[in-house]
Amino acid sequence: MNILVTGGAGYIGSHTSKLLKKTGRVPVVFDNLSNGWSEWVKFGPFAFGDIRDEEALFRALTGFKIEAVIHFAAKAYVEESTRLPEVYFDNNVNGTISLLKAMKRAGTKTLVFSSSCATYGNAETATIREDHTQAPTNPYGLSKLMCEQVISAAAPVFGLRYAMLRYFNVIGNDPEGEIFERHEPETHVLPNLVSAAMSGSSFCLFGTNHATPDGTAVRDYVHVMDLGQAHIKAITELSARDRLVSNVGTGAGTSVRELLAIVEKELALRVNVEEKPIRPGDPPRLVADDGYLRTWFDHNFKSVSQAVREIAATSRGRGGEELASGGLNGQAD
Ligand SMILES: NC(=O)c1ccc[n+]([C@@H]2O[C@H](COP(=O)([O-])OP(=O)(O)OC[C@H]3O[C@@H](n4cnc5c(N)ncnc54)[C@H](O)[C@@H]3O)[C@@H](O)[C@H]2O)c1
Repeated sequence: MNILVTGGAGYIGSHTSKLLKKTGRVPVVFDNLSNGWSEWVKFGPFAFGDIRDEEALFRALTGFKIEAVIHFAAKAYVEESTRLPEVYFDNNVNGTISLLKAMKRAGTKTLVFSSSCATYGNAETATIREDHTQAPTNPYGLSKLMCEQVISAAAPVFGLRYAMLRYFNVIGNDPEGEIFERHEPETHVLPNLVSAAMSGSSFCLFGTNHATPDGTAVRDYVHVMDLGQAHIKAITELSARDRLVSNVGTGAGTSVRELLAIVEKELALRVNVEEKPIRPGDPPRLVADDGYLRTWFDHNFKSVSQAVREIAATSRGRGGEELASGGLNGQAD
């Protein structure tokens, strides 16, 4: 089965491509390398292009005889989206419309879309179910919600089967260390914490007076390899149903202070912490209700501690260079 992986040169896309190859599928990566790495396109062919280029997508879909699309390509920096909303709507929403048009013309009928817990906005309940109100607090989350709406409106007309997977906070890397999390700038909390621990630089902790037990933001951390497997299972599910809208999270919340303690314990290192104010639009708690996920994806999720151990071990294997030079602005999103 040939699967088009938009955004397959990025973090989650490259890990999922590795899993697709391992399970006998051919991942065809479609990426403009705006935030990805050509050296990570090593599990299948590369079709360089921009998702807003309908013709390039059509050529990839037909040329590689694609049977299903996993659509990761997006701009995904929350803070940047508050400064450049038009860029986010153009890239993420127009890009998704262009993909739908190309799939319609090519007759490709299966789509798995990367959605986000950012579509929910502020949680009204301790854990968030799929039928929770969707009221995003930033343009990034709104762009993802708009994509969900466009896909669900087009699907019955196009005869499209689709999954929308709303990921919570993705962490970890390939335990074999072939690929890993590498963003420039790195805004994700765990790579920045591990980087601070290993390099001795400061970790900026945004928000110590949230309405949470220890005052720091609580998030649901899901391992990227588990997430990749959820995508593969979603494609299988779509052979027997038209629609799957599901959270992908573990149902367990971890605060930033708890994450810090795990990193210090696992690495036996101390982290220098600089406390900063809460960033605007940063919700105190985002934790998945995983009840529905468990009905279709029977899986043992890796723990945060395991993710930390793997990140440290694979980074040391590479000489630790990118973690030792990592960013300073740890962020819980
Ligand atoms: N990382 C998380 O915690 C998280 C959580 C929820 C949802 N998501 C979603 O998962 C997806 C992947 O996230 P990631 O962390 O791997 O991001 P990433 O930035 O590492 O990967 C995105 C990839 O898409 C490519 N891309 C962006 N715009 C493109 C365009 N117009 N045309 C072609 N390629 C383009 C980039 O070059 C990059 O390789 C995104 O849709 C993101 O919104 C991520």
